[in-house]
Amino acid sequence: MNLKEAIMGRRSVRKYKNIPVSEEDIRDIIEAGLMAPSASNLQPWYFVAVSRRDKLDEIRDTMQKVSQIVMPSLEDRFKNYPRIVAETRHFISMLGDAPLCVLVFLYKDDETYQRKETELMQSTAAAIENMLLTAYDKGIGSCWMTSPLESGLDAALKEKFAPDKGKMVALLTFGYPDQEPKMPRRREGRYELII
Ligand SMILES: Cc1cc2nc3c(=O)[nH]c(=O)nc-3n(C[C@H](O)[C@H](O)[C@H](O)COP(=O)(O)O)c2cc1C
Repeated sequence: MNLKEAIMGRRSVRKYKNIPVSEEDIRDIIEAGLMAPSASNLQPWYFVAVSRRDKLDEIRDTMQKVSQIVMPSLEDRFKNYPRIVAETRHFISMLGDAPLCVLVFLYKDDETYQRKETELMQSTAAAIENMLLTAYDKGIGSCWMTSPLESGLDAALKEKFAPDKGKMVALLTFGYPDQEPKMPRRREGRYELII
């Protein structure tokens, strides 16, 4: 697959087959994240990859609560699309039965890092996209999620999985897709050329 095919073809997958992701693929995905550009080369990330059944269940327990808390904002954002609300709620609570989750942290909370938060967040986002595209290239679907943060339950996940690795910024699900999502419409008028 070439880069353009990966960029155009990647979709958020919210339902996965009951097939594990191999350790080799997990390492390849994480290492693609580590290759991202970062502000001042600070590499301000920490990843926790979880595929152990009991630990995934612990994440899902927290996500059940997340789904209840984010319901009002979900209903507001998609007020004319009840099907999207129901599907997203189900996905958030069960994580689409994903066999692999990666928790993403903005590593370290010291003063320097606090001041550079915008730059560090962008660096971490670049690492996440590298991971999603690398997974896609292997036939592995993914979804980038921030709903644990919106619900305030990121602290519970941080406490369980990486209490001393900074602020949790995203939860990523990975697995072999059990659906073929359509591409959500891209908005017009979001760039201009000065050439
Ligand atoms: C920062 C960020 C946070 C997201 N959080 C969620 C989330 O909490 N739950 C979810 O189902 N999708 C989440 N998504 C996925 C978006 O809904 C999705 O990328 C968007 O609808 C475009 O669809 P596509 O990824 O298939 O192109 C998130 C994406 C990003 C970049």
